[in-house]
Amino acid sequence: MRKALRIVGLLVGLVVLAGAGFAVFVSARGIPSYTSPKPAVAAIEATPTRIELGEKLTLAACGDCHLNRETNKYSGHLLQDLTPDFGKVYSANITQDRAHGIGAWTDQELVGLLRTGIGRDGRYRVIMPSFALMSDEDVASIVAFLRSGSPQVQADATPSHSQEPSFLLKALTNTVMKPTPLPAAPVLAPAPTEAVAYGRYLVVGRYKCYECHSKDFKSNNPLEPEKSDGYLGGGNRLLNMQGQTVVSRNITGDADTGIGDWSEAQFGQALRFGTTPHGPLNYPMPKYSRLDDAEIHALFAYLQSVPKLKNVTPEDGAVAAK
Ligand code: HEC
Ligand code: HEC
Repeated sequence: MRKALRIVGLLVGLVVLAGAGFAVFVSARGIPSYTSPKPAVAAIEATPTRIELGEKLTLAACGDCHLNRETNKYSGHLLQDLTPDFGKVYSANITQDRAHGIGAWTDQELVGLLRTGIGRDGRYRVIMPSFALMSDEDVASIVAFLRSGSPQVQADATPSHSQEPSFLLKALTNTVMKPTPLPAAPVLAPAPTEAVAYGRYLVVGRYKCYECHSKDFKSNNPLEPEKSDGYLGGGNRLLNMQGQTVVSRNITGDADTGIGDWSEAQFGQALRFGTTPHGPLNYPMPKYSRLDDAEIHALFAYLQSVPKLKNVTPEDGAVAAK
C-alpha cells in the first residue's frame, strides 16, 4: 500500500513537473516562428478586372478585421469580437505605407502569408485566417487591389499594434494551431455555370462560410472542410462587438432547423441585406452586399446539396446557454 502510494505520488510529481516545464517553455517561446514561405508566384499583374474583383473580395473576406470604419482605410484595429480567453489581438495595418503597412512586402511574401499564415519575418500570424483553398486568381486579385490606387489602401502611417496573446493562445499555437502548407498544385475555381461545384468553392475557398457555420472553430478542418465537426450545421458560439454571444445558424438544407424551407429569393435577401424570415441578421454575420446573381444561385444550390443536419439554433427557439 505504502509503496503504491509512493508510486502514485511520484507519478503525480512527474506530471506536475512536466506541466510546469511546458508552461515555462510556452511562456518563453510565445507564438512560434517558422521558415517564411516562398510560393512560386511571379509579380502579380494588376489588371482592371483583378482590381475590381479584389476590391469586392477584400471587403468581404478582410474588411471586418482590417478596415477602420471611421477612416474607411485598411489600417487595422483591436479585434473586439475575439474571445478574451485568447488575450488581446490586433489586426495589422495593410495599407501601402512602407514602414507600418505592407508597402515593403513583395507579392510572393503576401501570397505566402495568405496561403499559410506565416509572415515575411517567419512569425506566425495566428488569428489571421489562412486562405488555403482560395483560387490563385482570387488571391492575385486581392493582392492587385492592395496595390491599387483605391483610397482605402493608400499609405496610412498608423503603426500596427503589437500582440498581447494569452497563455492559452500561446499554448495552442505550440500544440494544435498550426500554419497551413502551401498548395502543392495550382488552385482553380470551378466555372460559375457549374452551380454546385462553384457554390462549394464559395463556401470553403472564397468566403469560408463553413468556418463560422460549423460547430466550433477548434474542430474546423482548413484543408478538408467537410471533415469539420457539424459541417454547416451552425452552433459555433461567436461574439459581437459588445462581447455578447451570437450563435451561428444551421444553413444545411434541413427543412425544420436549417434553410430547407427557404426560397432562393429569401436566401439572396439574407446575404445581401441581412433580412430573413426570422428578422434581421446581426454581426458577426457579414453583409455580402456585392454578391452577384451567379454567386447567390451557386451558394443556394450547394447548401441544399450538402448532408442535412438536424441542429436547433436560436432562431428555431433554442436558448443560447451562457
Ligand atoms: C479574423 C480577422 C482577420 C481576417 C478576416 C483577416 N485578417 Fe489579416 N490579420 C489579422 C490579424 C489579427 C493580423 C495580425 C496578426 C499578428 O500580428 O500576429 C493580421 C495580419 C495581416 C497581415 C500581416 C501584416 C503585417 O504587417 O504583419 C496581412 C498582409 C493581412 N493580415 C492581410 C489580410 C488580408 C488580405 C485578408 C483578407 C483576404 C485578411 N488579412 C483577413 C486578422 C485578420
Ligand atoms: C464571421 C462569421 C460568419 C461568416 C463568415 C458567415 N456567417 Fe452566416 N451567420 C453568422 C451568424 C453569427 C449568423 C446569425 C446572426 C444572428 O443571430 O443575427 C449567421 C446567419 C446566417 C444565415 C441566416 C440563417 C437563418 O436560419 O436565419 C444565413 C442564410 C447565413 N448566415 C449564410 C451564410 C453564408 C452563405 C455565408 C458565406 C457566404 C456566411 N453565412 C458566412 C456568421 C457568419
